[in-house]
Amino acid sequence: MFPDVRLRRLRKGKIRNLVRETTLSVDDLVQPIFVDETIDSPVEFSSMPGIYKFPLSDVAKEAKEISELGIPAVILFGVPASKDAEGSSSWGEIDVIQEAVRRIKADLGDELVVITDICMCEYTNHGHCGIIDFETKEVLNDPTLEVLGKIAVSHARAGADMVAPSGMMDGMVEAIRQALDLNGFENIPIMSYAAKFSSSFYGPFREAADSGCCFGDRSTYQMDPANSNEALREVTLDVAEGADIIMVKPALSYLDIVYRVKTEFGMPTAAYNVSGEYSMIKAAAANGWIDEKKAVYESLISIKRAGADIIITYFAKDAARMLK
Ligand code: PBG
Repeated sequence: MFPDVRLRRLRKGKIRNLVRETTLSVDDLVQPIFVDETIDSPVEFSSMPGIYKFPLSDVAKEAKEISELGIPAVILFGVPASKDAEGSSSWGEIDVIQEAVRRIKADLGDELVVITDICMCEYTNHGHCGIIDFETKEVLNDPTLEVLGKIAVSHARAGADMVAPSGMMDGMVEAIRQALDLNGFENIPIMSYAAKFSSSFYGPFREAADSGCCFGDRSTYQMDPANSNEALREVTLDVAEGADIIMVKPALSYLDIVYRVKTEFGMPTAAYNVSGEYSMIKAAAANGWIDEKKAVYESLISIKRAGADIIITYFAKDAARMLK
């Protein structure tokens, strides 16, 4: 007559808290910061309400605010004053990211983990993530590796705590590991964007970082959204090359990949809740179609449930305030 098992018994009131399987903590979060060398006051992105690019003069203040919310880490993206075909404004001693790292570290020291994104797309005038053969319009893998090593060393010299290569070149982790070790930075960890898919959800970021491609797209180096086994091969390689943390990107449409990567490798695993995922929630909430706070919590807890230890998200500050 009566159901013996009633799962609803544990769904009431605070009992619900007792049986919660996954928790979200401020310690899981990484806030991205955009630093733009060409501006002198913060500029909000039209496609990402609430997200700004900061001039160098304001970056330490922003980092402090993030740190005071309890968020342990930031990841930095740079918009340089000048771009060329070789992305040569990415590895200089006083380029935008190197300066930003120095300013944040001078103010905050070890209070905040400063991670830097290592990629050429924000620094090249063609917007691709590497050196181009202009005849074939191809991104050249091996010549790009050398540049990535140089960028990583310059970030480490400026004081970065961790580097995160995002360009999906084959061998990028090994090239960066060797360059760092050769220069005395053997203790700087690498968080590799190991399984980065060629995704439409990066749209707002490309507007924000002014890093769109002027010809072709990134599908010759970023992964096909249809593939899952290939993501595991990417991770296998990056782990063998010395990656310390493995990232899956984007997050929400790729939770199966997060789950497989976490279960098969047991590595510290990060997921990047990307710009488009942010903008969609913001746009729907602005229209009154969804409850923003609930949608943010549900997204982030789902990413945790899938197996991520670290979530890079534009909602980090909002989530930190919610969790307080
Ligand atoms: C650089 C890079 C991108 C993102 C992070 N690093 C852009 C891209 O590959 O086009 C995307 C982040 C986001 O959409 O939030 N290669």
